[in-house]
Amino acid sequence: MARSLKNTRKHSYILNAILLMVSMIYEAGGLRTTELRITPRVAQKGRNVTMACLYQNHDYGVYSVKWYKGAQEFYRYSPLEYPNTRVLPVNGIKIDRLRSNETHVVLLHVGVALSGNYSCEVIQNAPSYPHSLSTARLDVVGVGGLRAIELRISPPVVQRGSDATLACLYELTDAPLYSVKWYRGRHEFYRYSPTETPATKIFPFAGINVDLARSNQSQVVLTRVSFGLSGNFSCEVTADAPSFATSIVSNTMEVVVLPPSSPSIQTSQHYYTPGDIMRANCSAGPSRPPAELSFFINDSPVTPGMYQVNPAEEGLFRSELYVQVQLWPAHYERGAPILRCEARVADLYRDDSVVALYFTNSDPKIERVTSPGSATKLHVCQLLFVSIVIVWANNK
Ligand SMILES: *[C@@H]1O[C@H](CO)[C@@H](O)[C@H](O)[C@H]1NC(C)=O
Ligand SMILES: *[C@@H]1O[C@H](CO)[C@@H](O)[C@H](O)[C@H]1NC(C)=O
Ligand SMILES: *[C@@H]1O[C@H](CO)[C@@H](O)[C@H](O)[C@H]1NC(C)=O
Ligand SMILES: *[C@@H]1O[C@H](CO)[C@@H](O)[C@H](O)[C@H]1NC(C)=O
Ligand SMILES: *[C@@H]1O[C@H](CO)[C@@H](O)[C@H](O)[C@H]1NC(C)=O
Ligand SMILES: *[C@@H]1O[C@H](CO)[C@@H](O)[C@H](O)[C@H]1NC(C)=O
Repeated sequence: MARSLKNTRKHSYILNAILLMVSMIYEAGGLRTTELRITPRVAQKGRNVTMACLYQNHDYGVYSVKWYKGAQEFYRYSPLEYPNTRVLPVNGIKIDRLRSNETHVVLLHVGVALSGNYSCEVIQNAPSYPHSLSTARLDVVGVGGLRAIELRISPPVVQRGSDATLACLYELTDAPLYSVKWYRGRHEFYRYSPTETPATKIFPFAGINVDLARSNQSQVVLTRVSFGLSGNFSCEVTADAPSFATSIVSNTMEVVVLPPSSPSIQTSQHYYTPGDIMRANCSAGPSRPPAELSFFINDSPVTPGMYQVNPAEEGLFRSELYVQVQLWPAHYERGAPILRCEARVADLYRDDSVVALYFTNSDPKIERVTSPGSATKLHVCQLLFVSIVIVWANNK
């Protein structure tokens, strides 16, 4: 016992030197102050934490050092007892006994529940057992405590001049929210920070109009969206002290303009005879992105021919699809075949136009309407028609 007391004194000389300045400031009356140092102060879940109780020894030496989490004692060092260290069970606390001694306690694999105030109390061996206490806080943060999941833009494709809602989906389990920052590219345009007044802040950015009344900690509403806003948006979530962990997600917003009217169809002729080659054009726009076009005859898709996208005013596009189809008697089984052109822009827009491909013979006036160039073609077509009928009759 005498030896251990001597040891304690020897070590305390080193500590004395370290704490000389500190103690000169903090020393009050006959009581020596202590300091509790926790390393790391903010620990990740599963890590080991070292707590050092730095105290100045009185000539009489230490009677005991008691360690508390909150008000619960979990470890005691009493050099006059045997064994001189004692572990008191406290939920979640695992002590590395080999590395814990008169001045240090090592906690193993700390869990988030171990966050809180810790104290060490030093009781001296003097006749009056003077004691001093020091407290410090440990914060244990979960590794997956903060996770930004998705920046959801609705509608996913936004019409120029309309509103868009950007929602930042995140998970924050081990700390309160510190801030959510919104960026267009690298430029911050909106910030939500609950600890500040006001909690919302707007940073001007050309073309961005934030509707504050509809924006909060998880979403921001943009009104009268313009083309310039097409592109990358990000939200960055920051957890409050002690970790100030951040997580960021991005998404691309597409601003569109829809065609002002239904697609328009032009055909090479007004009237057709089975066997004729029907040529047709469908055009739509101006729009952005360009409309996708498809042709159908009696609702069966027609193999697309040339598809062209031409620039139009204000960064918009006009699109055109050209097809060429030979008409068969089968097309006329239920009367004049219906040619339909469908235009689509993303999932936002779908419109179509139809024309009936009337049969020449159904109306004698047609002959005069047929374009001049079609006379020779008619000859070829009639031949074709005859051969088709023959083939068809042979197969029966
Ligand atoms: C914590 O301490 C134990 C025992 O000394 C050791 O085996 C383990 O690797 C340490 N863990 C970390 C994360 O340092
Ligand atoms: C007590 O343990 C700590 C960490 O395990 C070590 O750094 C320190 O030197 C030890 N102190 C004494 C007096 O043994
Ligand atoms: C921890 O200590 C701080 C400062 O001394 C105090 O404000 C806080 O309430 C304490 N927390 C707990 C859980 O005791
Ligand atoms: C944010 O505002 C939207 C729309 O008003 C609402 O649905 C949502 O619950 C709000 N979120 C929070 C966290 O207040
Ligand atoms: C969007 O912006 C974020 C943050 O500046 C960046 O990390 C990300 O790579 C960008 N994404 C695209 C598709 O440009
Ligand atoms: C289709 O459009 C092209 C280019 O605009 C034009 O040259 C052609 O005559 C059109 N064809 C028909 C059948 O309308």
